[in-house]
Amino acid sequence: MGPATVAQSALDPAGPQAAQLSHLWWVMFWVCTAVFLVVMASVATAVRRRPSEPTPDRVLTGSVAFGVGATVAILFGLLVISFVTGRAVASTVDAGAVTIAVTGQQWWWNVEYVDPNAPSLRVHTANEIHIPVGRPVVFNLASRDVIHSFWVPNLHGKRDLIPGYQTSFWLQADRPGVYRGQCAEFCGHQHAWMALYVTAESDAEFKGWLAAQRRPAVEPSSDITRQGRDLFLKSTCTQCHTVRGTIAGAVSGPDLTHVASRGSLAAGILSNTRGHIERWVRDPQQVKPGNRMPPNAMSDDELGALSTYLESLK
Ligand code: CUA
Repeated sequence: MGPATVAQSALDPAGPQAAQLSHLWWVMFWVCTAVFLVVMASVATAVRRRPSEPTPDRVLTGSVAFGVGATVAILFGLLVISFVTGRAVASTVDAGAVTIAVTGQQWWWNVEYVDPNAPSLRVHTANEIHIPVGRPVVFNLASRDVIHSFWVPNLHGKRDLIPGYQTSFWLQADRPGVYRGQCAEFCGHQHAWMALYVTAESDAEFKGWLAAQRRPAVEPSSDITRQGRDLFLKSTCTQCHTVRGTIAGAVSGPDLTHVASRGSLAAGILSNTRGHIERWVRDPQQVKPGNRMPPNAMSDDELGALSTYLESLK
């Protein structure tokens, strides 16, 4: 549905934070596997012993003492390593890193590139995040309605987004790629369709992408796109969406200024094609029942013009 090769696995870490968590997982996995095998072997030995040969009390006491001691030591060891991992992933990075504010809402991700030095350079996008490879990126996370959880398994662990509370972490991608993320906390009807994509790319590609996102929407260059834009601006679209450079400035739905530059629609549910745009605009409830966008009754010609306009918003 999204870009061609997409990674989504906590066991294939693409950065230091995810590597810490994956390391912790493998340590726990192998320790628990060893414990399981030892316990099963002990059970097998015990059931094969004949009742005519009772275990001496000394051996019994010794075995229980060993079992208790080993359990305490193993649990303490796991506690220490998970504490150390927790400290490592909770570390902070210097100010000046790329900072992205992500707000979860039913059922999509609002993404804002923050620039403390120049508020005018802030840009909004939705469900697709671009980051530079090899540099730490700070995420400031919040929710607008219910509890969501931001999770891009190849890059970091889950982080719950609690309404009214901002949380923050950093991550870094060590190799380019497209990493799929998913809301990891049940948040209502379309929780399973609250996906996002993180594209990690070279610094130059990232800067080029961000510069393009900062530009206002392109002006229509043909009659049909002009007709589509006029339709957009006089319809209910403007009550929820922003297209920078026009009078549309509402923020309850995704920013559409560069919607055509995105690979997917509706938080990862549809690839961004002409047919899908038309299907979505005409009846979003049929594609993603329960979402906040109402159906739009319009003629085929009007829908065609509107879709042509949206497709021009590169
Ligand atoms: Cu948002 Cu589940």
